[in-house]
Amino acid sequence: MTSRTAVYPGSFDPITNGHIDLVKRSLTIFDEVIVAILVNPKKSPLFSVQERTALAQEVFLGEPRVRVEHFDGLLIDFLRHCDSRIIIRGLRAISDFEMEFQMALTNRKLAPEIETFLMVPGFKYTFLNSTIVKELASFGGQISDFVPPPVERALKEKFVR
Ligand code: PNS
Repeated sequence: MTSRTAVYPGSFDPITNGHIDLVKRSLTIFDEVIVAILVNPKKSPLFSVQERTALAQEVFLGEPRVRVEHFDGLLIDFLRHCDSRIIIRGLRAISDFEMEFQMALTNRKLAPEIETFLMVPGFKYTFLNSTIVKELASFGGQISDFVPPPVERALKEKFVR
């Protein structure tokens, strides 16, 4: 059997327990998961791409089947570069659906050989996203249930008052 590498793209600004849950679920199906962090010059992320990469790398330090990379340009070009044909995205709630459906169909139009897998995260992560976590952290709210310790530390450093 050939080995299957899946690409999990996103902003990961920063990586949350919801993302980690999805990577772990993906590892039960795919041989390798590449966490692909988008370098988007149009967005102004809280964490630089180097910081986002370093945090994700720290989180998956003990998992040799997870690789963390960054990309710019089209996602399908990155997949071709990695020799992967699988995109993983999380579908938390119906509100995610429209955007994910649009992205999946656009990517399919551009690259018919690439399939998108929309995966459902664990129930306790269905409401979670990086934006909410950043907002909580900015007001000194508790975030330890939502992000792993390195990310919690990094967020606290960003928002020292
Ligand atoms: O975490 P996000 O911000 O929801 O991730 C969005 C992401 C990075 C998956 C998406 O913006 C993307 O793939 N960008 C790369 C540009 C691209 O390929 N666009 C065409 C597909 S819509």
